[in-house]
Amino acid sequence: MSGARLRPRQGQGDRRQARPSRRLLDDKILSQHERKTAVKIGIIGTGAIGTNLVRKLTKAGHSVRVANSRGPETITDLATETGATAVAAADAGQDVDVLILSTPLGKVPDLKPFIDRVPDHVVIADTSNYYPFRDGKIDAIENGQAESVWVEECLGRPVIRAWNALTQHTLENKGAPKGTPGRLAIPVAGTDPAAKKTVSDLIDDTGFDAVDAGPIEDSWRIQPGSPAYCTELTGEQLTRALDLADRENDRLRREMVFPIVSTWPDAHGDDMVALVRAVARLPRLLGL
Ligand SMILES: NC(=O)c1ccc[n+]([C@@H]2O[C@H](COP(=O)([O-])OP(=O)(O)OC[C@H]3O[C@@H](n4cnc5c(N)ncnc54)[C@H](OP(=O)(O)O)[C@@H]3O)[C@@H](O)[C@H]2O)c1
Repeated sequence: MSGARLRPRQGQGDRRQARPSRRLLDDKILSQHERKTAVKIGIIGTGAIGTNLVRKLTKAGHSVRVANSRGPETITDLATETGATAVAAADAGQDVDVLILSTPLGKVPDLKPFIDRVPDHVVIADTSNYYPFRDGKIDAIENGQAESVWVEECLGRPVIRAWNALTQHTLENKGAPKGTPGRLAIPVAGTDPAAKKTVSDLIDDTGFDAVDAGPIEDSWRIQPGSPAYCTELTGEQLTRALDLADRENDRLRREMVFPIVSTWPDAHGDDMVALVRAVARLPRLLGL
């Protein structure tokens, strides 16, 4: 299907909203941030996503401080394996350039006292997604507020949303070196271009191209249920998928997908990807 046919029709009840085209990497920012220097990174969360990020980012040569809710003494194996430094959650954002939050979204308010101590220059990235069955019902999000805008309001400072739209299985197994034909891409959303560039470079280090999904207000385009969410696409496909986002119907689709997945006794990451691709009709719309 051609790109032109994917564009929303006006005045015919199509809820998709046109997305301004953006370049992934701004030339000016690129020249200001010539790579590759080691980045000092803090990560809060040692679950499925946090642990994989620790492994990949230390392997890429970055220095990582890692924390969870139970204390550094529970992270010694991961620290020994990767060379990361296990710290208390209150200290994860100290002496770092980037702090990655990888907790359930419903736990983000608990992080506010730690974030208040994080210097302003530190870029904060957030991997979280809203699942009401896990996070409790959050009225603002239920009423349409973008999940990451809610996170920003909770923390009182900007975040870059990243690594939220791929499964643990994809993150662990499907990264590839930059330039590999067919390399998968993941979206990154946020309002500050320099912060977004910093996080996009780290995404690259974890094995994926980064595609700009716009400012944080537009991050609903990469929420659960959206065509960009966990669908394992290349950069070109992902750019088209972002334009297919449909705020209201994507939320309905999210609510349908997880009851199905919860009935699978041995759900595999590839099953999940096949399901969400089908729900968004990507095999036909993107010719997958
Ligand atoms: N799993 C996926 O495939 C996937 C994919 C993309 C995005 N995400 C999103 O990324 C986030 C993390 O997902 P996950 O699957 O890695 O979660 P998870 O396995 O449940 O791990 C969550 C981590 O957050 C830590 N944590 C919770 N509350 C905390 C607090 N108050 N202070 C410090 N640490 C705290 C937990 O600490 P303890 O270990 O001490 O309990 C745990 O290490 C979620 O929002 C999820 O929706 C998940």
